[in-house]
Amino acid sequence: MKIAVLPGDGIGPEVTRQGVKVLRAAAKRFGLEIELSEALIGGCAYEAHGHPLPPETLALAREADAILFGAEGGFQYETLPRGLRPGDALLSVRRELDLFANFRPIVAWPELSDATTFKPEVVEGVDLTILRELTSDIYFGEPRGIETLPDGSRRGINTMSYTEAEIRRVAHAGFRAARARRGKLCSVDKANVLETMELWREIVTEIGAEYPDVELTHLYIDAAAMALVRTPKAFDVIVTANLFGDILSDEASMLVGSIGMLPSASLNADGKGLFEPVHGCAPDIAGKDIANPLASILSVAMMLRLGLARADAASAVEAAVRRVLAEGHRTADIATAGGIVVGTEQMGDLVVHSLS
Ligand code: IPM
Ligand code: MG
Repeated sequence: MKIAVLPGDGIGPEVTRQGVKVLRAAAKRFGLEIELSEALIGGCAYEAHGHPLPPETLALAREADAILFGAEGGFQYETLPRGLRPGDALLSVRRELDLFANFRPIVAWPELSDATTFKPEVVEGVDLTILRELTSDIYFGEPRGIETLPDGSRRGINTMSYTEAEIRRVAHAGFRAARARRGKLCSVDKANVLETMELWREIVTEIGAEYPDVELTHLYIDAAAMALVRTPKAFDVIVTANLFGDILSDEASMLVGSIGMLPSASLNADGKGLFEPVHGCAPDIAGKDIANPLASILSVAMMLRLGLARADAASAVEAAVRRVLAEGHRTADIATAGGIVVGTEQMGDLVVHSLS
């Protein structure tokens, strides 16, 4: 199995280093043959090659069976022209590899309940998955840009757009995910106002007929944003569009207490995937070795389960993480479970240093 490792910027390299350690440990313990290759992406690639996504990085990502991504960005790149900003590289990889199905599991860890802003009874036992469509919507729709009007003032334009085929494939992924869990799918849209989302609801409903065992509900994005913090345990799988999923997943991270705990998987139709923490590059804490690496480690678990079809190894990694949390490990502690060692010099400040 060829794994492309793209650490990126900010805390990306620090957390990815820990993820890679765990991946190597899991490979050794479970006898997986893996070959890791690293490449630059984001701001560091721009510094070195003048482009955030050098052709060799994209080629490596294409050839790999799975990709482990860290984070990209940094204040110094925010004023670069579009196309050269670090975030554009990640968007290009998602789009070029057609990684349309972005799974963001939101699981409450009892050990972190103190870190949330919620009452314990609201968040204890939360276990939901956000399936965010990742390669279409207003992120990629045309026309887009900033134009100058005849009176000299400017207008910004972006286009929300979905084809039937794009809705169909992510809907199927949502129904299959719900079927493998508690059988409930909530589709989130804004069908009351936007035609794009009217089509979304129509297609999702139509596909629902093929999954009579899955209970399908619909919510508008505003109501979903409210329900997610009011009754989070009512959700099993949420399927939604790119922009809404971006927003809902940051909101949902607070149910867990830290966005630094959230892994994600972005899969294409063949099941090939990019695995990455939901958090960003956190430039304010980068280089201090205080970033929580668990989102990267849990992304490795998702890679093992979904990308490499090794549920046994994935469960062992998750068990090790659970043990680290349960035992309340502090600086330089190491925990072992199922033969996997998880634990880094950084892990001590796990609860204190949540990423934003
Ligand atoms: C995410 C991030 C990205 C997105 C940015 C970095 C382009 O916020 O993965 O949620 O908006 O998709
Ligand atoms: Mg986001």
